Amino acid sequence: MRVIVECDNGAMSKRAAVFVANLVRRKPDCVLGLATGGTPVGMYQELVRMHNEEGLCFSEVTTFNLDEYYGLAPDHKESYRYFMQQNLFDHINVKPEKTHVPDGLADDVDDHCEKYERMIDESGGIDLQVLGIGSDGHIAFNEPGSSLGSRTRAKTLTQETIQDNARFFESQGEVPRFAITMGVGTILESRRCLLLANGIKKAKVIAEAIEGSVTMQVTASALQMHKDVIAVIDEDAAFLLERRDYYQHVEDMTEEWERMCDKG
Ligand code: F6R
Repeated sequence: MRVIVECDNGAMSKRAAVFVANLVRRKPDCVLGLATGGTPVGMYQELVRMHNEEGLCFSEVTTFNLDEYYGLAPDHKESYRYFMQQNLFDHINVKPEKTHVPDGLADDVDDHCEKYERMIDESGGIDLQVLGIGSDGHIAFNEPGSSLGSRTRAKTLTQETIQDNARFFESQGEVPRFAITMGVGTILESRRCLLLANGIKKAKVIAEAIEGSVTMQVTASALQMHKDVIAVIDEDAAFLLERRDYYQHVEDMTEEWERMCDKG
């Protein structure tokens, strides 16, 4: 896993956006896996800026979001579909029919989840999956105890997640209890994962996910099994990492390594 520590949330967001933008430039018809929540907001702002000021073009890009609250309509202002429209889709030239977010009102959830998986497959698979991390270690809504081979399905949210996400709702009682979420297995099939985290509240769980054991109690730790993960985190979230100096050393040596490879 490549671990990049940036000084703050702004620098983290810009760095993460560069990874997404480079892919979109190199492969205009790429498939992006997207996340919601507070963490990626700055990255989306930066992508919108790149679209407006640098002509970054999303017209051939396909997107799949990680998850959606069960029971919320797409136009509910706390739904993840609404979040994506507000924070990204309405401000770039992605084609609406190429954006996918699980349907929180699906009648037949199992059937919807199977179809979601099939659509991902038929699109050629996710090239780059953006991920945040929950304070209980979840990626998407794969709460502690989720199978590391899990696929898209309905999931019961933990009390911790409900409390964390209550900040977006009028009251805790309004936070949905269930979500439709890609599984850990689904996420691990993405060709590259970009894990973002900022703030001291994430320090403990980031240390567990990156340097702890692989366990379904911290589903983000499953990323250790993936061959191409880039974690872009800020200083606060990196606070409890023991190998931080080495991660920085690797970054410092990258240029030298690339120079040597070029010569070869
Ligand atoms: C959101 C998602 C979640 C969040 C996580 C962190 O689509 O899948 O796993 O990434 O709950 O949320 P924030 O960024 O609000 O701390």
